[in-house]
Amino acid sequence: MSFLETNIIRDDQTYDYSSEFQWFFNQLLEVKSGDEFPYEKDTFKKLQELIQQCDKLASELEQLPFHKQYSRNVIGEKDSWNALLSRWEPNVASSVHGHPALAFYYVLEGEFEMDFYKKVSATEVKFSHTKHLKKGDCVWSQGKQGEYDNMIHCVRSLKSSYSLHLFEGDPQKGEVFKIA
Ligand SMILES: [Fe+2]
Repeated sequence: MSFLETNIIRDDQTYDYSSEFQWFFNQLLEVKSGDEFPYEKDTFKKLQELIQQCDKLASELEQLPFHKQYSRNVIGEKDSWNALLSRWEPNVASSVHGHPALAFYYVLEGEFEMDFYKKVSATEVKFSHTKHLKKGDCVWSQGKQGEYDNMIHCVRSLKSSYSLHLFEGDPQKGEVFKIA
């Protein structure tokens, strides 16, 4: 039986932490001011630096609520922008899913493996490659606006981990796929 079948997240919970983290969400949005989609590579570098240098953010991670396998904490929603802080138990995996046009992931603590896939039909994908991500690493993708099959991937936590996610578009609309 594959890892996906045995460990896929089945018990998750969403919390609203937007008032507690508004100060940080505003800083994230400030980084891209003056730039427009598709954003310059430099904008993502600045996002990475901002998060790396934010000691206050690191100190507040432990206070996030913890719900079994996966906790999703909304830290900001404005216009089409959404930001989340996620807390993962060790050895759990997301579904194989897509994203809105802009998706940015940053590893705050812990370690992940990300499997990337290519779409082969409306509902099916084929494996492309794996990326190993550690604390301080980030990935981003800029795809097709108005569609939710961008950056199709599966995320696995290798240990207890935290990740920060920034999206332009509604992450809840991300499409879920089967492996062909
Ligand atoms: Fe994702």
